[in-house]
Order: sequence, then structure tokens, then C-alpha cells
Amino acid sequence: MKGIILAGGVATRLFPASKAISKQIMPVYDKPMIYYPLSTLMLAGIRDVLIISTPRDLPMFRGLLGSGDDIGMSFHYIVQEKPNGLAEAFILGESFLDGEGGALVLGDNIFYGQGFSSMLKRAVESVDDRGACVFGYYVKDPRAYGVVEFDEANRVVSLEEKPAQPKSNYAVPGLYFYDRTVCEKARRLKPSARGELEITDLNRVYLQENSLIVELFGRGFAWLDTGSADSMLEAANYVATIQNRQGFYIACIEEIAWRNNWIDRRQLRALGEAMSKTEYGKYLLEL
Ligand code: DAU
Repeated sequence: MKGIILAGGVATRLFPASKAISKQIMPVYDKPMIYYPLSTLMLAGIRDVLIISTPRDLPMFRGLLGSGDDIGMSFHYIVQEKPNGLAEAFILGESFLDGEGGALVLGDNIFYGQGFSSMLKRAVESVDDRGACVFGYYVKDPRAYGVVEFDEANRVVSLEEKPAQPKSNYAVPGLYFYDRTVCEKARRLKPSARGELEITDLNRVYLQENSLIVELFGRGFAWLDTGSADSMLEAANYVATIQNRQGFYIACIEEIAWRNNWIDRRQLRALGEAMSKTEYGKYLLEL
């Protein structure tokens, strides 16, 4: 399976901080925000990744991540001219996917918790043949998100985008796994009232086909927001708290590449040496 990171948009809620640079390149504690969703795809075992961003910001992502060769991956880049909606990723990414299924992760979504890697691997397998797999996460106020509703037998009954009166507290995070029919389904979508190709509409097509799986993240799991200055600070503090307490790094892409056997110890050392002045670099050298 291949992966797509959608890292465009204008991030007006973070102005003036994000006026001249992409939000997804801004640091969350000690590393660029995009490392977090990238690490999610890597933990799912995905090595081939398309990065989509604005004409202004795409060169910066290319500068940051390059070809991916140094971490045993392959990165591709494509411009999204306008924020026409999340589902447009599968129209822009059609030739990249080249008939394969694809995972989409939003460039500003941070996931962390025990058992995450196995959940990701299960999600990849579950859409291998056909279907889609998305997630549900209980939040106090789900009105800003896609919301999934279940019946008594835990079957999905509805999916709604930013409902004023949510039918449940389960938000759908920005991480989606699809089979090989996703591009064709995305092409048939019509823009919503706000003029976007909605990911929730795409998921609803799978729901109508009876091939949508929704996995729930439990209480101990962290799905963090980075939409506002406060949520950015909270996410940074969360990462710092865990890293300083445990000594394990969150979203350390070099470490994941090494643990996945995509690079060897010698390559890992070289990456660490290039950053040996920082705690991050020292962490790599001590692995
Ligand atoms: O974070 C999860 C939520 O993401 C889901 O629960 C919603 O169903 C989904 O629609 C989305 O809601 P948001 O309100 O967060 O979407 P937003 O328009 O803010 O876009 C999310 C990120 O994707 C943001 O960093 C900008 C980027 N983006 C957005 C659009 C619409 C793009 O790169 N291209 C786009 O066309």
C-alpha cells in the first residue's frame, strides 16, 4: 500500500505565525509537524509516500524530506493549487497510486499510543481486498470534525461532516485507509455546500457499499489537534512530557526506518552524526 500526506491549506487560525510558512512545517516541540503523520504511515509499513501541498510550500517540504532515500523511503511531491477538499488527494494522487490502494493522513494530525502499530497493520490488511478503514475517537465536542454514529450492535449508521447537532461523540480523525477503487470513487464526488470534495462524502460511499470499517481508539490513546496556538502548545507539551519521562522519542522517523529494517545501523549513525548537537541527534546515536 502507498501513502499520501495532505499538507496544504492556509491555516488562517494560526495567523500571524503561519502567514509566511506552512503550518505543517512548523515545529511541534523538537521536530517539524509533518514528522508526526509521516511516522504514522511508516508504522503502517508504508514506504512510498506522496506529499501534497501548496505551490508556495511544496518546495520547503522537498527541502526537508528530499527523495526519502536516506531513510529507505521514496517521497513524491505534487501541488494542490487550491484547498479544494481532502478527497481531492485521490484525484491528484491517482497516477502515483497507479491502481493500488492508498492511506491518507492529514499533515496536522498527531497520533500516539500503545498498540497503534498493530492497529495500523490491521487497517492495511483489512482493505487489501476491498473496502475502507477509518477510526473513531471520543471527544467532548465533536462539532468541528467528521462524526460517526453507531447503533446498539456497534454498526455504523451515519457519517456527518461538522454537524451542528452531532449524533455521537465519536470524531473521525484524519487517517484513512482505502482499497484500489478509491480514485474512481473520488472522481465521482460533487463539491459540498462549502465548495470542497469532502472526505466524509467519500467515506459515505464505502458505508453505502457496506464496506466501511470503523476502528475505535481507546481512552488511553492520544489524537492531538494543532489547529490553534493553544492546541499547538498543548501538543508540544504532550510530546515533551512523554519524551522526557520515558526517553523514547515520538515520531522519530529515523528510528522507525531503522526498526523497520529500511536502513542499517551505519546509515542510522550517519543521520545521528549530522544532528549530533541536538538531543534528537544524540538520541539517534544512542539507539
Ligand atoms: O482532523 C480531522 C478532521 O479533518 C476530520 O474529522 C474531518 O472530517 C475532515 O474534514 C477534516 O476537518 P478539518 O476541519 O480539520 O479540515 P481542514 O479543512 O482544516 O483541513 C485539514 C488539513 O488538511 C489542514 O491542515 C489543511 C489541509 N488541507 C485541507 C484542505 C481542505 C489541504 O491540504 N488541502 C485541502 O484542500
